[in-house]
Amino acid sequence: MAEVPGAACAASGAASPRRPAVSRSAHADSSEILQISDELAAIRDAFDLRAPAYDESEMHRSLADAVASFAATSNVGTVLDVATGTGLVLRALREHLPDARLIGVDISPGMLAVARESLPAAQFLEADAAALPLPDAATDLITCVTALHLIPDIRGSVQEWQRTLAPGGRLVTATFLMPDDAPAPDEHRHGPSASRPYVRDHRPFRSVEATAQTFSDLGFALNRHVVWADDVDTVLIAELLPEA
Ligand SMILES: C[S@@+](CC[C@H](N)C(=O)[O-])C[C@H]1O[C@@H](n2cnc3c(N)ncnc32)[C@H](O)[C@@H]1O
Repeated sequence: MAEVPGAACAASGAASPRRPAVSRSAHADSSEILQISDELAAIRDAFDLRAPAYDESEMHRSLADAVASFAATSNVGTVLDVATGTGLVLRALREHLPDARLIGVDISPGMLAVARESLPAAQFLEADAAALPLPDAATDLITCVTALHLIPDIRGSVQEWQRTLAPGGRLVTATFLMPDDAPAPDEHRHGPSASRPYVRDHRPFRSVEATAQTFSDLGFALNRHVVWADDVDTVLIAELLPEA
C-alpha cells in the first residue's frame, strides 16, 4: 500500500508543477496561494458560488455512492480524489474503507471549505489536477468524478496522476455519456449569472469506446466499467489501469 508523508502533502508542493499556468507563491507568513490561469479561475469562481448548495444535488450524492461501491477494494491504503469538490466521493468511500487515508484536491476554496467541515478525517488540498502536491507513488486509488470535462490539460493531468499512483494502483473516473454527435466544447455558465463562462468538453468521454481510446492514448487501459443513470444523466464509471 502507498503511504503519504504528512508534511509532504500538507502544502509543500512536493511535486513540481508540469503546467506553466499553475504555480505556487509564498506568502510572508510562509503559507502558499495557488496561482492559476484565467481559464481555471473562471471554473474556481463558478464552483465557489455553487459550493453552499452543491450537496443538495441528489444526482451527485447518489453517483458518489455508486462510484464508492465500484471503486472500493480491500487493498487500498491511500485514496486521492481529484476535483473532489465538497468531498462527496471521499465521504462515500469512507463507508467502505474506514482505515484508508483520504486526500482530496480541488481548485475551489469554497468547495473545499464544505468538504473540510463534512469530513474532518480527510486531508483537503487546494491544487490543480495537473500539479499535485504529492510525492511519487503516493496513492493506491485515484478517483475523478464529473470533472474530466472541465479540465483543460487532460494529458498533463493524467500524466500527473500516473506519477502519484503506486505500483498496482488504479484510476476510477465517472464521466457523462453523450450521443456521438455531442456538440463541440461549449462555453458554460453554471447557476448565478455572476459567474464567468468556462469551457466544458464531454467528447473525449462520450461513450465507452471514446473513453477507452482517450485513456489508451494516455497510457491507461479500461479494465471494467458500469453505467449509472438517473432520470436526467447517464454516467460511465470506469476503472483504468496504467499500461506497463
Ligand atoms: C461537478 S464538481 C464535481 C465534484 C466531485 N467530484 C463530485 O463528484 O461531487 C467539479 C469540481 O471540479 C473542480 N475542478 C475543475 N477543474 C479542476 C482542476 N483543473 N483541478 C482541480 N479541481 C478542478 C471544481 O472546482 C469542482 O469542485
